[in-house]
Amino acid sequence: MSEAPVVRLEKEGDVGVIIVNYPPVNALGPGVSEGIIDCLNQANADPSIKAMVLMGDGRSFIAGADIRGFGTGRKRLPIGSRTYDVLDASTKPVVAAIHGYALGGGLENAMACHYRIAVPSAKVGLPEVLIGILPGGGGTQRLPRLAGPEVALDLIVSGRHVPAPEAKQLGILDEVLPDGTDLRTAAIAYARKIADIRPLPRVRDKEAKADPAIFDAKRKSIARRARNQKAPYNCIAAVEAACTLPFDEGIQREQALFAELENADEAKALRYAFFAEREVAKLPDLPADVRPYDFQRPAVIGAGTMGGGIAMSFADFGYDVKIMDASAESLNRGMDRIRTNYATSVKRGSLAQDEMERRLARIHPVAGYDDIKDCDVVVEAVFERMDVKKPVFAKLDEVMGPDAFLFSNTSALDMDELADVTKRPEKVAGTHFFSPANVMKLLEVVRPAKASPETLATAMALGRKIGKISAMAGNTDGFVANRSRAPFNSEMVILLEEGCLPEQVDKVMVDFGYPMGPFAVGDLAGLDIGAEGRKRRAAANPNYRKLPIADKLVEMGRYGQKTGAGWYRYEKGDRTPHPDPEVAAIIKQVAAEMGVPQRQFTDEEILRRLLFSSVNEACRILEEGKAYRASDVDVMWLHGFGFPRYRGGLMFWADGIGVRNVYNQIAAWHQQYGERWAPSKLLRDLAETNTPLREARPGS
Ligand code: 3HC
Repeated sequence: MSEAPVVRLEKEGDVGVIIVNYPPVNALGPGVSEGIIDCLNQANADPSIKAMVLMGDGRSFIAGADIRGFGTGRKRLPIGSRTYDVLDASTKPVVAAIHGYALGGGLENAMACHYRIAVPSAKVGLPEVLIGILPGGGGTQRLPRLAGPEVALDLIVSGRHVPAPEAKQLGILDEVLPDGTDLRTAAIAYARKIADIRPLPRVRDKEAKADPAIFDAKRKSIARRARNQKAPYNCIAAVEAACTLPFDEGIQREQALFAELENADEAKALRYAFFAEREVAKLPDLPADVRPYDFQRPAVIGAGTMGGGIAMSFADFGYDVKIMDASAESLNRGMDRIRTNYATSVKRGSLAQDEMERRLARIHPVAGYDDIKDCDVVVEAVFERMDVKKPVFAKLDEVMGPDAFLFSNTSALDMDELADVTKRPEKVAGTHFFSPANVMKLLEVVRPAKASPETLATAMALGRKIGKISAMAGNTDGFVANRSRAPFNSEMVILLEEGCLPEQVDKVMVDFGYPMGPFAVGDLAGLDIGAEGRKRRAAANPNYRKLPIADKLVEMGRYGQKTGAGWYRYEKGDRTPHPDPEVAAIIKQVAAEMGVPQRQFTDEEILRRLLFSSVNEACRILEEGKAYRASDVDVMWLHGFGFPRYRGGLMFWADGIGVRNVYNQIAAWHQQYGERWAPSKLLRDLAETNTPLREARPGS
């Protein structure tokens, strides 16, 4: 049996319909561009065809170049004989008929067509910057001509997906079809309507004019967000070229700027992150036919900061959600906080007032368990202590329907113990949200031993349905994200004992790419929270490495921003951290009491001390089979901790240094500092075989 061609030409009377069929999303994989060119040539040569339609089979128009082909040296068609050039040279009009996604090379092909129409649900965009490159198929030259340089800068530098109705307003689409219209039929009718119009409207023939000042202004506006990155700047330079150079020279410039990016570390890391985010959804040890339950009636228990944020996440994604708390007073306070959070977004301009009202109307405060008993999924987010959570779970088990799923938002407690409070442990799992829950993208799904495959699949799907990236973690103290991060948190305080200052460590991490330094983050979250965990661990483990400096600050009531002082001091009503001589004095005093000699540290040493400690722990987690893949750890660091995406993730970054170098350094620190730096067995094995950390698998 011969395989279906990836592109085919179907004749509908005098219209040639060119259809791309490269599942799942019609990326421009091997043979696709060549197939489009063949069909265009055939249609142009066929005297009975007056116009063409270009469209995609399945769920999308064209999702862009095949990302797997980048950096592999795969041959590409040269400038002059690419699809875009063949479209430009076509003597008959071509209508791009868009559904699903027209992204990257997909939109670039659509812009090289003479007309563009779409169904209302379609999305278009040039997201290349998100994988560290720029639109290399003429997108940087055509979009400014089609929609103006300002719009082009916005779309190309942000990479955002634009819904069809907005794309029509911006001039990218000629027409958005009424809802429910059959795209193929409408596109053929459209092609017949425009078949005789000459000259053919080609985007390349338009002019892009800009005030030259907009480019510098754009560079300035992205300076903080895009630090250490090259792609956003090359995107701007390419759009600038569209406004200063003739089209063909602009295309050459685009290519030169593209070539600087494709094999750079930034693009490699971002491609890795793209695929790691898709891999993390796969649960290899669950039966292939397991399906998540399609929940409709969620409830949240606990209207504190976390519960409120979780309820907002449901409402933001269209779910009606019930929220309850132990007292009417806390419930009211929680609802006020939710309202204030939404109002802040409205004030900032990121949310429309009427959308805020719609979202608020979906959050239903309720008085007691009786009001939630018909819900099909419950996320408990009460105080993080076993003796508080257990009675809540016992009560939920009693009142909820037998099919309801019970999830706990815990960041460290033993999920097996909690599941065993119920008579339905197979329906219990952990759903660990990160703070603020309505903003942070990570949902760590924690797997108790008795959870059924359906429960795990449902918890993972729950995250995706409310805009999160779900990642599975085993039931181990701190689960995967916080456990792998814990040594970093200790090490940053130990560095102070040895002579660093909080502002020095923070600067290193901000320069590395974190949005905030770890000490400033600590002050934001509240230092009292970490102190609780340390107490619990110290009580359980006599060898627990205490952090006297951190304990001292908490003893003094320096809890962070909320008390006006923590690792830094704060002016009233201002969140700017100011280095505090009092903290420097405490550090000196504690170090002297501990007898730790003081010395100078290089930035590199600080960075490695923090991150290598976590690499080692991540290896231990994998060794114990508590995570599926090293790349899952990376996804958690990207979306839970603000690790810079253009560095790929913790393990990918460490691979850049080399597994053997990482191991040797850790082994040396083991000699110098003792047990807390003992290299994990998995790390040693990987180093011995020179296997990249990102390829580490449980027990490998
Ligand atoms: N290349 C290769 N594979 C791709 C791909 C691409 N451009 N886009 C998606 N895929 C794969 C995914 O890896 C996934 O594979 P898997 O099932 O084996 O894990 C599968 O297609 C489905 O993808 P998603 O799970 O992401 O499906 P969604 O429906 O959630 O999202 C999407 C669809 C919005 C199209 C999303 O996949 C996406 O954002 N893709 C990338 C789009 C992009 O960046 N395009 C630009 C490419 S660069 C370019 O065009 C360069 C040009 O300028 C020269």
